[in-house]
Amino acid sequence: MNRLALAGAKCRRLFTRQTLLIALALCIVWFLGMHFRSDISQHWSELGTQLPDLRKQPTRMPTHNVLPPLAERVLCHGPRGHLLGQSPDDDLVERELDGPYHMPWAGNYEETGLDLTVMSVDQRYGPYGYGEDRDDYGRQKVDWDKVDWGQLQNDCFERNRHRFPESATRFNDTRTAQPRFTFRDVAKIPEVRHWHEFEPSRRTAIVVRTWRGYQYMPEDLHYLRSLVAETTLKTGAEYQVILLVDMKDYEGYENNIFASDEAYKQGLVDAGVPPEFQSIALLWDVRLLQSWYPMIEEHRTMWQVFQPMQLLALHYPEFDHFWQVELDMRFLGDAGKFLDRLATTARNEPRKQALERASFWHMIAETGDYGEFFRSVDAANQGGSHAWGPMRVREILPIGPDPPTPDPRNDTFAWGVGEEADALMTSFCMDANIPNEWVFKEWIYGLASGVRTPRFYCPPAIQRGSRSLLLAIHQAQLELGIRVPSEATLASFALWHGLKLSFPQHPVFHRDRDDVENRRGWWRGGPRASSTGLGPDTSAHPRGDGLTFWWESTWAKQVFSAWMGRALEEGVPRPWIVDEWGGKLWLPNILLHPVKHVVP
Ligand SMILES: *[C@@H]1O[C@H](CO)[C@@H](O)[C@H](O)[C@H]1NC(C)=O
Ligand SMILES: *[C@@H]1O[C@H](CO)[C@@H](O)[C@H](O)[C@H]1NC(C)=O
Repeated sequence: MNRLALAGAKCRRLFTRQTLLIALALCIVWFLGMHFRSDISQHWSELGTQLPDLRKQPTRMPTHNVLPPLAERVLCHGPRGHLLGQSPDDDLVERELDGPYHMPWAGNYEETGLDLTVMSVDQRYGPYGYGEDRDDYGRQKVDWDKVDWGQLQNDCFERNRHRFPESATRFNDTRTAQPRFTFRDVAKIPEVRHWHEFEPSRRTAIVVRTWRGYQYMPEDLHYLRSLVAETTLKTGAEYQVILLVDMKDYEGYENNIFASDEAYKQGLVDAGVPPEFQSIALLWDVRLLQSWYPMIEEHRTMWQVFQPMQLLALHYPEFDHFWQVELDMRFLGDAGKFLDRLATTARNEPRKQALERASFWHMIAETGDYGEFFRSVDAANQGGSHAWGPMRVREILPIGPDPPTPDPRNDTFAWGVGEEADALMTSFCMDANIPNEWVFKEWIYGLASGVRTPRFYCPPAIQRGSRSLLLAIHQAQLELGIRVPSEATLASFALWHGLKLSFPQHPVFHRDRDDVENRRGWWRGGPRASSTGLGPDTSAHPRGDGLTFWWESTWAKQVFSAWMGRALEEGVPRPWIVDEWGGKLWLPNILLHPVKHVVP
């Protein structure tokens, strides 16, 4: 327990011994002493921070939390009315190579279990309408405006209903169902909800962030169709894709969508979502965030991208996990298999040193296979772990479990194996408290320890958060105004609460694959050169513009464009990773980001 919690417990115990007045006086003296003694307290009151109500100690999670596997998946119908998996027109054509597969620059295929396959663009997106205008399309054509991806997902869920617990539900058509998002002062649900109020549903929401005025190009439609078909429809409805539409009312949009049913209906029209996706579009606007989080003046995406996700977890708690995905991503293999493998890798990962492993990139060329990497992180930590149970922050009353043994050195990498990750990252995490150039370094509010608070940031915010974690963040933001920037939110709150964090190291490639100096600049000596075992000692690294998955990459889009057969800009060579044989262009099974659509 932290100091304040301990003192609170002491105060409570005293009360019951009928020494009420004396005890109260002592507690007040102690509290004033605490409050005015140190700089920290001064800083604290200046920041207007508050403490949680210590009388309301949250229920902690059990130490072991492994769910049984689900029954076998039942096939579902795709947009052509056929059962997926039995319909060549709907199927991807994943090829295996004759020769060796490209070696990832960072991450790996071995531990993540991703398939060593390649696809051409027509094999990848053909099922979703790519090339349908050509004579040689060769697949049954679809009238996409007549497809209802919400209905297809619900039908799939009904076929698989028996596999899920009672708490799993269909996702009703958002055009006809009463919208559940409401302003806080008229909400019919409790303002704060807790992890233990919900049973696992075994379903994951895939939340695609979009906005009013977004121009949906054919490549966006191919991507979104592939996402629904490959995640929900090919997994027996273990996923549910939702479009979360920001109405951008700060850009002169006057319609207050939550003022009336009519206003919301008008919003659905104005949102501009293509007909086939309208039944899975959920609208929100900044007024909703202002109403729920008045203590936080900042709601913009770069700082608070998870606020709408927190409200989604509060209002739609029938999902165990919430993936935040973006329109500027491209899964070059089956998206459902990809997300499944990330989830499985995270589930199989032990808790011990999960943060430490997440703070280094696994690079085969530097350290060998994943097993070598794992052992070198262990050696750098001398068998210990920096995140063993909650990382104490006095404003946070942790909900995560106590470790099975007080000393991590006595754990044989068994704890947490089989447990779902509450915070699943898609890139490595950096410690905000080592000297660094992080632009958001000072952006932390609501915590007495301010910039000294342990924090980790793992950009991009393409991440999965559990309902439990999102509800806990919601509570801290609503009651105490605690906030860190988007890319630090899930990781930091997960660590403060002692929840499981995982970064499954999916493969990433680099434009300058032979530039050893550049690679060493990212490797920074790896675990063996780290004085703490928790990330490299320096946060400085080369620019990431040549990576296939990195927030500032420019190469990701070139890779995608070249594979699509588009002309690249003057002087830009065809990326080496695009292979040509048999008259087609091929790419390996990776996730690209960012790939912003091309608007002609
Ligand atoms: C969906 O709609 C049906 C019929 O209107 C209703 O009975 C059900 O409770 C709704 N389900 C959810 C999860 O909202
Ligand atoms: C590990 O556990 C044993 C008892 O099983 C105990 O004697 C030993 O001190 C523990 N080691 C550490 C490092 O806590």
